[in-house]
Amino acid sequence: MTAPGMSPQALHGCFVTGTDTGVGKTHVSAALLHWCAQQGWRSAGLKPVAAGTTLIDGQRVNEDVQALRQASSVRLTETQVGPLQFEAACAPQIAATLERRLIDPATILSAARHLARCADVVVVEGVGGFCVPLGPEWDTADLAVVIGLPVILVVGLRLGCISHALLTAEAIRTRGLPLAGWIANTVDPDMAHSEGNLASLHHEITRRHQTPCLGVVPWLDTPTPAAVAAHLDAVALKRVFTASLL
Ligand SMILES: Nc1ncnc2c1ncn2[C@@H]1O[C@H](COP(=O)(O)OP(=O)(O)O)[C@@H](O)[C@H]1O
Ligand SMILES: [Mg+2]
Repeated sequence: MTAPGMSPQALHGCFVTGTDTGVGKTHVSAALLHWCAQQGWRSAGLKPVAAGTTLIDGQRVNEDVQALRQASSVRLTETQVGPLQFEAACAPQIAATLERRLIDPATILSAARHLARCADVVVVEGVGGFCVPLGPEWDTADLAVVIGLPVILVVGLRLGCISHALLTAEAIRTRGLPLAGWIANTVDPDMAHSEGNLASLHHEITRRHQTPCLGVVPWLDTPTPAAVAAHLDAVALKRVFTASLL
C-alpha cells in the first residue's frame, strides 16, 4: 500500500478500533463525537468503509454512518461521513467485490481532508477488528496508518477479550501508531467475572503499553451518545484530544 498519508497537521482526533466487530465501536465513536462537541469543538465522524445498507424511503442507509452523522456537531451528508458504502453486510473486501468496486485509499483520504477543513476533531471508526482486508494489498491497519491519528481501542467485555485486546494493542504499536488509550464496553451483561477480567486488562495493558483506560461503559438500556459519554473519563480524554489538537 503506497498511498501517501494525511499530513499530521491536517487532521486532529482519533481512530477508533476494536477487539472485534460488534464490540461497541460505533457507540463509543458517537459518544466521543458528543463529548468533543460538549467541549466546544466542532466534531465530525468518518466511517471510511461501511458494509451493510438497508433501503429506507428509497435511500440506501448504513446504521454506523447514520449514527456518526447524527452525533457529529458539524452538519454533514451521509456521503461525507461514509464515502464508501456497500450493500452487503459482510467483510468489506467481499462486499466491494460483489459490486465490482474497489476500496480506494484516495477516496478515503479526500473525505478525511474535507472533514479536517470543516471540523476541529474527526473521530474515525474503523471496520471490524484492527486487521481486516480492504483489497488484495491493504487492510484496515494500513488504513489507520494512512489516517495517522492516535488510536483508541474499544474492548468488548466478553470471554476471550483479554487476549484479543493484548494482540490488538500489540498490532497497533507494531504499526508505529500511538495507542492513546482503551475503553472497556460491556457487550455481554451476563459475563462471569467481569471485574476480574477488567482488573487483568488494566494490569496487562498498563504493564505493556503504559496507556490509560478512558472509560468503562456498562450495559445500557438506551446506549445514546450522551449516556455512553457519561461513562468516559473526561480528564483522560481531554489529555488525548488536547494532545492531538496541539
Ligand atoms: N454498552 C452497551 N449497552 C447496550 N448495548 C450495547 C452497548 N454496546 C454495544 N451495544 C449493542 O451492541 C451492538 C454492537 O454495537 P456497535 O457499537 O454497533 O459495535 P461495532 O461498531 O463495534 O460493530 C449494538 O446492537 C449495540 O446496540
Ligand atoms: Mg460499527
